[in-house]
Amino acid sequence: MRPPEGTLHRKAGATLAAACGTWFGTAVVGQVLFGAYVAIFYVGSALQGRWEDWNKVFPKGHVPGATLSNLAVAAHVLLALVILVGGPLQILPAVRRRFPAFHRLTGRVYVGAMVLTSLAGLYLVWVRGGAVGDLTMHLGISLDALFIMGFAGMALHTARTGRFDAHRRWALRLYLVGTAVWFFRISFSLWLMIHGRPVGFDPDTFTGPFPTIMTFAQTLVPLGILELYLRARDGGSATGRFATAGLLSVLALLTAAGTFAAFLILWKPRIAPSPRAQAQQPAFVPHGDPQRLSLIQL
Ligand code: HEM
Repeated sequence: MRPPEGTLHRKAGATLAAACGTWFGTAVVGQVLFGAYVAIFYVGSALQGRWEDWNKVFPKGHVPGATLSNLAVAAHVLLALVILVGGPLQILPAVRRRFPAFHRLTGRVYVGAMVLTSLAGLYLVWVRGGAVGDLTMHLGISLDALFIMGFAGMALHTARTGRFDAHRRWALRLYLVGTAVWFFRISFSLWLMIHGRPVGFDPDTFTGPFPTIMTFAQTLVPLGILELYLRARDGGSATGRFATAGLLSVLALLTAAGTFAAFLILWKPRIAPSPRAQAQQPAFVPHGDPQRLSLIQL
């Protein structure tokens, strides 16, 4: 017997919530791994005074004497850690409901870290110069910086004026644009793992159609999917909710696969560069330099 519309609708809502939770849980694991890599590699080498290790990842990671550039890079990666850990904490409803004062305090820290990281990133791209990639990639990541700053302002403004429904929506958008660089890394790594060799980009310059498309997609695609989800959740038909749940389930699988690929290709070789780990690098790595393909500035 066909269930009445109300029951079907509720089932669709529950399925959508479960799919969303599954995607979010998978994303949190991936972002925590990214954060762990940042802490172990960047903070670890800085604490040991081995700042020059940062140059293994990007060309001007640490330039002796270039104080402003070095400070901007250090602030950028350290605040990245706050963002990667703080994002999920801000979003989790349980934390928000049970510890509202903590949510308000960490919210200010999170928003501040977002804005400062973006400003440091913009400085590195447009003032210091020498960032990896071409103009399209610099424009793409700058678009992300503008979204971050705009959404941070909206999230703060709607919270201060007590418009909490709108606040939650802006906070979700902020969370997604704040993790765009992680989307880039997992998509790039999955792409490499699927093809087994560089396709759609030049591995020496890290330019080409793939990074150009991805530099915009990293921000715009997650935002588009969020709008689909919000529409389905807040007034969508049962069919729309089931369809969105299906999409989120597929994305959860892709997110898990991308995180696994990024861990193997980008993060593990830098934090555990044993001879065995080096040997695990894919055969296409050019010039015998396993870090070369990891030169992603985004
Ligand atoms: C807000 C979220 C962001 C996070 C979590 C983040 C994280 C990182 C991390 C971890 C690195 C070190 C590279 C690596 O180990 O993978 C890095 C480098 C870098 N990021 Fe970001 N980033 C963010 C946003 C931005 C934005 C908005 C810009 C530019 C407007 C930017 C520009 C750069 C640049 C230029 C580098 C140095 C690489 C190079 O010199 O080419 N980042 N970022």
